[in-house]
Amino acid sequence: MYKILVEGGHRLSGEVRVSGAKNAALPILAAGLLAPGRSVFENVPDLKDVKTFLKVLEHLGASCSFQDHAASVDAACCEPNEAPYDLVRTMRASVLVLGPLVARCGRARVSLPGGCAIGARPIDLHLKGLEALGAKVSLAHGYVEVTAGRLAGADIYLDMPTVTGTENLMMAAALAKGVTTLRNAAREPEIAALADVLNLMGARVSGAGTAVVTVEGAETLSPARYTVIPDRIETGTYMAAAALTRGDVTLTAARPDHLDAVISKMRSAGVGIETAGDSIRVKGPERIRSVDLTTAPHPGFPTDMQAQFMVMMCVADGNSVMNETIFENRFIHVSELRRLGADITVTGNTAVVRGVPRLLGAPVMASDLRASASLILAGLVASGVTEVHRVYHLDRGYEAIEKKLTALGAVISRVWED
Ligand code: UD1
Repeated sequence: MYKILVEGGHRLSGEVRVSGAKNAALPILAAGLLAPGRSVFENVPDLKDVKTFLKVLEHLGASCSFQDHAASVDAACCEPNEAPYDLVRTMRASVLVLGPLVARCGRARVSLPGGCAIGARPIDLHLKGLEALGAKVSLAHGYVEVTAGRLAGADIYLDMPTVTGTENLMMAAALAKGVTTLRNAAREPEIAALADVLNLMGARVSGAGTAVVTVEGAETLSPARYTVIPDRIETGTYMAAAALTRGDVTLTAARPDHLDAVISKMRSAGVGIETAGDSIRVKGPERIRSVDLTTAPHPGFPTDMQAQFMVMMCVADGNSVMNETIFENRFIHVSELRRLGADITVTGNTAVVRGVPRLLGAPVMASDLRASASLILAGLVASGVTEVHRVYHLDRGYEAIEKKLTALGAVISRVWED
């Protein structure tokens, strides 16, 4: 298993290019199952999750390739095979094959994703929506099985604006007969990106990015070629790195308009941010100011940036109250940050962070993807060396993170430990 060593105290400066968005790439790759023929997606990030997802698609009969950030999915034939536990357990997003598979092949069998470190994360809304489109859903032996004839458009209200749930239903509706309306849909930029792909394939999707998404299904869809949008969470993570190290970093190939809430909070915390076209220049202040924060579905502050922002608050001047409203167990990084000297109290879904002048490097354990990122960030400002263990989580979502941080002047290395 690898661990990452970070020597703190180095100011970051220079330019870093943002990779394609993992959370946009996964549903878009799944959409490849909808059309007979070869779809090609560019700017796909080179990540463990992407490779696992391509394995799931191959298991389902698609021929896939991945080279130089271009992924192709050739779903000439699509087999209603099952997405097995061994693949699904490592990546909950595998559930994204349910919608396209049942719409195209009339049957899908996917291992239930089960709980994960950050909460129970059920898929009941995905399943309720598929039933509304005419599918039959059954659960047995740890698998969910969905069968259907041709799906039929429906009016669906989502109790919560679930991101992958909205995506699954958009993909299923793209091959359904008639019009589907999704109300209280998720509004994340990744939803709009998927809508662009479905439209390129021949479906008619409108309203993506708002709370009401309408999908006019087509009898068949055609393969598409599409370039994946930049990763807004990776962008925000490097912004936090610059802010924490009093750095001066320019992010390129970014989408500042996807980061309104993050940019606004960072500015309130005293971070200098200038945006121009697809670049964001971030200048860290002498001392970060504490600000309060509540996570919310887009366009609110993303839960996927909560852990990274918490690190900023750990060394800020003053106290910060942080509320996590999306996942019930998303403060696992707190105990590790405390090992570095952070002063944090958690009650329910609220964390009170009292800023301290400095953190001190220590061995810490990564527990999930964004928690891992927060520990690397903490290591960048902690005095001495921080050893981050179990970094495989990090490789699921951050492309070439040591390389990118090293190019900015960080002292970071990956070493093998038995
Ligand atoms: C996606 C993102 C993840 C991000 C999350 C919230 C991908 C691949 N992952 O995850 O990085 O942290 O959005 O922005 O895009 N819920 C239900 N029933 C359901 C579905 C969800 O109760 O059927 C609840 C969840 O438990 C959670 C909330 O809805 O409390 C939001 O979850 P959801 O938006 O579905 O997250 P994901 O799509 O899994």
